[in-house]
Amino acid sequence: MITIHKALQEARDKLENKTATPLLDAQVILCHVLKVDKLYLIMHKERILTKEEVYEYNEMIKKRLCGVPVQYIIGKQEFMGLDFHVEEGVLIPRPDTEILVEKVLNSIDKDDKYNIVDIGTGSGAITISLAKYMEGSHVYSIDISKKALDIAAKNAESHGVLSRITFLNGSLFKPLNDIGVEGQIDILVSNPPYIPTADIENLQIEVSKFEPKLALDGGEDGLDFYREIINTAPKYVRSGGLIALEVGHDQARRVIELMKEKKGYVDIEITKDLSGIERVVSAGIKF
Ligand SMILES: C[S@@+](CC[C@H](N)C(=O)[O-])C[C@H]1O[C@@H](n2cnc3c(N)ncnc32)[C@H](O)[C@@H]1O
Repeated sequence: MITIHKALQEARDKLENKTATPLLDAQVILCHVLKVDKLYLIMHKERILTKEEVYEYNEMIKKRLCGVPVQYIIGKQEFMGLDFHVEEGVLIPRPDTEILVEKVLNSIDKDDKYNIVDIGTGSGAITISLAKYMEGSHVYSIDISKKALDIAAKNAESHGVLSRITFLNGSLFKPLNDIGVEGQIDILVSNPPYIPTADIENLQIEVSKFEPKLALDGGEDGLDFYREIINTAPKYVRSGGLIALEVGHDQARRVIELMKEKKGYVDIEITKDLSGIERVVSAGIKF
């Protein structure tokens, strides 16, 4: 017979030196198995787990020992106060990306209607948060990965915003050519792949082995997607529109240079995350 307290202790010992947050990982997994919150674990330390619960919990801890991210094990990640279903094949949304969503929300009039393009949808974290918090907006949400779009569509449905999103499968701006929105986009957002190719194998095992390379690889210097987006965005975004891009920790200045080399970018700004890292580059489009 095993209690909540013992189950957590044993898993923590196994995960020690294998993950950065052994106790937290065990708690999150046990909460998921028991369908309870963390407070319940604290208040019911002596509760005995059923055989089925022990089995499910141990199987999940085994996965964690192999490096599978907790979010893929429990199948979800919170972003902007919303739960997103995630599974292997789609990037786990990062808290840092909330800075991009907040930047957009702080730049608009919430009562206006906006046409938004999100390049690189993934689980739909940015697309769905914007659709949810900007009622009346419509998002054209593009990803080259069909699997990512399927997951994003499910997330959109569970958050009640599916009808205000057009999911488009294809590379970068290409899918927009067929729907005639040139010069009609008010806001373009993207958290594109931005890790330099050679750095990918040096990332934590959770990322390098389990998250999709397609979501990470930004080419030799990590800037391939910014070059394409910055070159082409003015064709789609109307004069007076906004572009906001998440960038890697040391890329903001180079992304700004790319904007300055191209005509049409004004009021270029950097937004830092809570650790003081330059996280978002935004600009107005003006012709
Ligand atoms: C860093 S992830 C961002 C996912 C999500 N927006 C987020 O912030 O959690 C980048 C996404 O870009 C997609 N992607 C990669 N190459 C692409 C391309 N050429 N065109 C469109 N999307 C692409 C990947 O499949 C992945 O979902």
